[in-house]
Amino acid sequence: MKSSDKREDFKLDLPRRPRRMRRTASLRGMMQETYVRVEDLIAPLIVKESGEKEPVGSMPGLFRLNIEDLVAECRELAGLGVLAVAIFPNMDASLKDAEGSEAGNPETLTLRAVKAIKEAVPEISVITDVALDPYTSHGHDGVLNAEGSYVMNDETVARLCEMAVLQAKAGVDIVAPSDMMDGRVGAIREALDEAGYIDTAIMAYSAKFASAYYGPYREAVGSASAAGTTLLGKETYQMNPANRREAIMDALMDEDEGADFVMVKPAGAYLDIIRELRDASQVTLAAYQVSGEYAQIHAAAKLGWLDYEKTRDESLLAIKRAGADVILTYFAKEVAKKLRA
Ligand code: PBG
Repeated sequence: MKSSDKREDFKLDLPRRPRRMRRTASLRGMMQETYVRVEDLIAPLIVKESGEKEPVGSMPGLFRLNIEDLVAECRELAGLGVLAVAIFPNMDASLKDAEGSEAGNPETLTLRAVKAIKEAVPEISVITDVALDPYTSHGHDGVLNAEGSYVMNDETVARLCEMAVLQAKAGVDIVAPSDMMDGRVGAIREALDEAGYIDTAIMAYSAKFASAYYGPYREAVGSASAAGTTLLGKETYQMNPANRREAIMDALMDEDEGADFVMVKPAGAYLDIIRELRDASQVTLAAYQVSGEYAQIHAAAKLGWLDYEKTRDESLLAIKRAGADVILTYFAKEVAKKLRA
């Protein structure tokens, strides 16, 4: 601007003015590249043995549900168009031991819950967690060595195969190993095929980071009280949050071993991993917006520091934009309701 120019006479000679397409709602609508759809959402649900529904303190709106209430919740979700639920058990402390023996019980809570859902709401896909942490007294995802200092890989994988076959037998559509043991996807695929469950799919928690964002979940399923802490260190099996190449490598291994989905978890703090994996892999990509991501938005909104709905919707849109095909999120039901309205 020359000092002689009046401000109103000042004109930029621009070949392109991006704001031109932001002027009206209609123009902005045509420009929108990414949408969150009901079909993208998977609802994680917590099942418990009996009693009234119980709120989870650090996760407002999430409840531990008995099987009957869980089935009702699945019916409502299916009615809203949600395609899948992921079931996690809140186990009574009396059923936990160092080996997580209860995971091998053919009548364990999760399996009864799966049968009840598939009977009442067959159209909703049911995903079950394959990991020992809800069942172990120490809260780790596997079996410990004699010194109690290290989670043993191959011994744990053998247990996971057993769990996955029991889940398939109960009628689950997708088994989801969340344990991060090496070689478990291939071993589970083989065990399922051998038992005749060739159509049971595998959603591999492939790039699962050793994250502080899991704290509220550990309260929800009770693995924190068993272990005496929400910050149990799982870094000998979950991934280092600093590592990008390792995450892609491990996820591609899962794909090679036969995973039908690969997953990045948590989601919001790992959008770069989601994008890179979407570009590197050919299978369906899931992202898990975990308990701490949910709790964070609720907490800030409660303090009046963030707008709840806008922050929630933006957090999901960002995960979708990064490249996720489906999103496991505790916001699933309320967002489905909003999208349906
Ligand atoms: C472990 C498992 C975790 C979550 C689900 N299954 C993490 C952990 O305890 O290490 C976290 C889910 C969440 O935070 O929402 N098998």
